Amino acid sequence: MTDAFQMSLDRQAALPLAVQIHAGIRDAIREGRLAGGARLPSWRDLAAQLGVARGTVRVAYERLIDEQLIVSAGPAGTRVAERAAQPAPPIRPTRSAPLAAFFHDFDGAPFVFQMGVPAQDGFPYTLWSRLLARSARTAAAAPVVYPDPRGHPDLRREIAASLALARGIRCAPDQVLVTAGFSGALGLAARALGLSGAAAWQEEPGFPLTRLALEHAGLRVVPVPVDGAGIDVAAGIRRAPGAALALVTAGQQAPLGMPLAHGRRLDLLAWARHNEAWILEDDYLSELQLKGRAAPALAALDGDGRVLHAGTFSKTISPALRLGFLVVPPGLAQRFADIAACLAPASAIATQLAVAGFMAEGHYLRHLRRMKRLYAARRDMLVAALLKAGIEPGRIHATGGLAVRLDLPDGTDDLGIATRALGFGLAPVALSPWYAEAPKRHGLLLGVTNINEKRLAADCQRLLDLTGG
Ligand SMILES: Cc1ncc(COP(=O)(O)O)c(C=O)c1O
Repeated sequence: MTDAFQMSLDRQAALPLAVQIHAGIRDAIREGRLAGGARLPSWRDLAAQLGVARGTVRVAYERLIDEQLIVSAGPAGTRVAERAAQPAPPIRPTRSAPLAAFFHDFDGAPFVFQMGVPAQDGFPYTLWSRLLARSARTAAAAPVVYPDPRGHPDLRREIAASLALARGIRCAPDQVLVTAGFSGALGLAARALGLSGAAAWQEEPGFPLTRLALEHAGLRVVPVPVDGAGIDVAAGIRRAPGAALALVTAGQQAPLGMPLAHGRRLDLLAWARHNEAWILEDDYLSELQLKGRAAPALAALDGDGRVLHAGTFSKTISPALRLGFLVVPPGLAQRFADIAACLAPASAIATQLAVAGFMAEGHYLRHLRRMKRLYAARRDMLVAALLKAGIEPGRIHATGGLAVRLDLPDGTDDLGIATRALGFGLAPVALSPWYAEAPKRHGLLLGVTNINEKRLAADCQRLLDLTGG
C-alpha cells in the first residue's frame, strides 16, 4: 500500500510526521491511487513500515476518519471510504457574470457617464481608510459572539438621528435594520411581508433591477405610469386596486428625477390605508438632491404605519460597502428583526462601525455637501458641453437625480448605442429598458458623477456621432 501512494517522509521538515502521513494518504485517495474500499494497513503495521511511533500514525488515521476519507471497521480493518476515492467533478466556470446587462465591470474604475456610482475622485480615501482601520481594530477586539442581526446599535442610532434631521422621519433605532444595500432591504421586505404571489405597483419607467427583484420574489409587477407629479395613483388604482405593495422613488423619481407631489403622496397613503397595502419607499439618493433642499421622505407623512423606508449608502458613500437600511413601522419591527436574524442578518461589524463613525463625527454631512456641489457643477458642465456639441436644447433634461437625460427620437436603438459607447470608455444608460411596456421613450441617461472635464467636449462629440448626430 505504500506503493499506492509512495509516501516519503521528510524527517527534517518542520511539518509534523503525523501531518505528512495524513497528507500522503489523503492525496492518494483524492487522486484515485487508493480506490474506495481499499484496505489500509493497521496503524501498528504502517508505523513499523515507516519507522515512526504508533501514536503518530494513529493521529493521522483519526484525522482521516474525522474527514470521512477512511472508515474503521473494527476487526475488519481500516478501509478507504467508498465515495472518498471518486474524483471530484471538475469545477466549471459559471456561464457569465451575474446580470451582465446591468454590470459591465466589477473591478475597474467607473466609466464616464456611468450611472449609480459616486465620483471616484470625490471619495474621501484617506479619512475612510483611517476610520476603517480603527473600526477593524475595534471589531477584532470585540467578543466572539453573534452580533445583533438588525445591525450594530451605534449605526442604527446614527441612521435614526440622521433620518430625523435630513428626511423628517421620526423613528426609534429599534425600527432600523441594517441591510445589504437597497437590494438587501427589498429582499428582506418581500420575505417578511409574505408578498409572494401578490401584485406590486412599480413606477413606469422604473429601475429595471427592482422589477427583476420583485419578480424573483414571486410578485406580479404592475407598471404604473408616472407624469410630472410622480406616480399616477389613480392609474394604479385602475390597473391593480388590490395590489399588496407599491414601490416608489418619492424623493427623485428614478430615472426621470421629479419628486412625488404632495397631493400624490396623500393619495398614495390613502390608498395604502384603505387597502391595507404596503408602500416601499426607495430613497436611493437620500438628500443628494442637486437643486435646493430635498423634500421630506414619504415615510415622514405616514400616520398609519404603512410605509417602509429604504435607504442606501451606495450613492452617498460607495456601493462597495453594500450597506443600506430599512426603517419599518413600529408594529413590524419585531417580525422584521426575527426574519433578519434567520434570513438576512446585517453584515460585518467593521464596516458598520466605520460608517457609524463617519456619521457621528460629522464627516457624512460634510461629504454630502461637498458631493452636492461637485455633482451640480459637473451637471452644469455636462449640459453646457452637450449644447456646445450642437445637441438641441429641447432634447437635454436635467430634471433631477444624478443624471442628465438626452432624449432620442422614438424607436431609436438606445440600447445598441449604449453598448457601442462602452467601446469608447463611455457608459451612458439606455432609457427604454426602464419601461416594462410600450410606449417606451428612448434616450440616454448620462451620469454626472464621473465625467472628465478635460475630455468632456470630445466625449459629447462622440455621443453625438453615436446617436447619428
Ligand atoms: C432606483 C435605485 N434604487 C436603488 C439603488 C441602489 O441599490 P443598492 O443599495 O442595492 O446599491 C439604485 C442604484 O443604482 C437605484 O438606481
